[in-house]
Amino acid sequence: MAITINDQQDIEKMRIAGKLAAEVLDYIAPFVKAGITTEAIDKLCHDYMVDVQHTIPAPLNYAPPGHTPYPKSICTSVNHQICHGVPSDKVLKNGDILNIDITVIKDGYHGDTSRMFYVGEPSIQAKRLCEITYQAMWLGIHQVKPGNTLGDIGFAIQQHAHKHGFSIVEEFCGHGIGKKFHEDPQVLHYGRPKTGLKLQAGMIFTIEPMINAGKRHIKQLGDGWTIVTKDHSLSAQWEHTVLVTEQGFEVLTVSAGSPAAYTS
Ligand code: MF3
Ligand code: CO
Ligand code: CO
Repeated sequence: MAITINDQQDIEKMRIAGKLAAEVLDYIAPFVKAGITTEAIDKLCHDYMVDVQHTIPAPLNYAPPGHTPYPKSICTSVNHQICHGVPSDKVLKNGDILNIDITVIKDGYHGDTSRMFYVGEPSIQAKRLCEITYQAMWLGIHQVKPGNTLGDIGFAIQQHAHKHGFSIVEEFCGHGIGKKFHEDPQVLHYGRPKTGLKLQAGMIFTIEPMINAGKRHIKQLGDGWTIVTKDHSLSAQWEHTVLVTEQGFEVLTVSAGSPAAYTS
């Protein structure tokens, strides 16, 4: 399938959608504490998107081929949950780590971003997994420039995860994004330098590595959505939506509360 090259008007709309998605994460951060349920986090985010931002939560009723419609407005993936965690009556407890993944639609354009959150004080090992995954995402982002390839991005992420003894989930990847939630290209979080699609200014895609403390293998839960590590080891993920520019890259999912960029 053809890969979208966005023009200045598309890019301006994607900047707006990206910032709004990031601002949902800023909004929810102070609520992420021991005692709250992931369902309550979903409801707070849903209402903020719909009533305050006038955005559409893209996950709600999202039904790609082979899936039942997604029942909630955000994804909350706790501890050994890798991605697509469906918010539930599960209560967060001290020491949990969780990913909150937000995708909004504004004016027909999608912004997609996720961050890791700490509930109280997680273990040193859990925090290290979150930090290395954050660095891995940024090492991937720093490969984004015209002439580099998707393989360069995947390789940078893979090197960093493996150097620290972690594994990379292979079944899910980053994706082109714009007027559609998921479009080409697929952005793998592993690969070989100088292989795969050559990047061009105007492309927009997500980089969203999922990194496990144990083995890479996954399992889908009976809800048809939530993905967990087969060995029950912890998993972390961070996600940004990124534009390829003439000079390199622009991260579109930034807000006042975005953690500082990692530069090695
Ligand atoms: N936001 C996820 C991504 O980064 C996709 C979630 S699809 C859902 O691609 F249906 F689970 F919400
Ligand atoms: Co995404
Ligand atoms: Co996402």
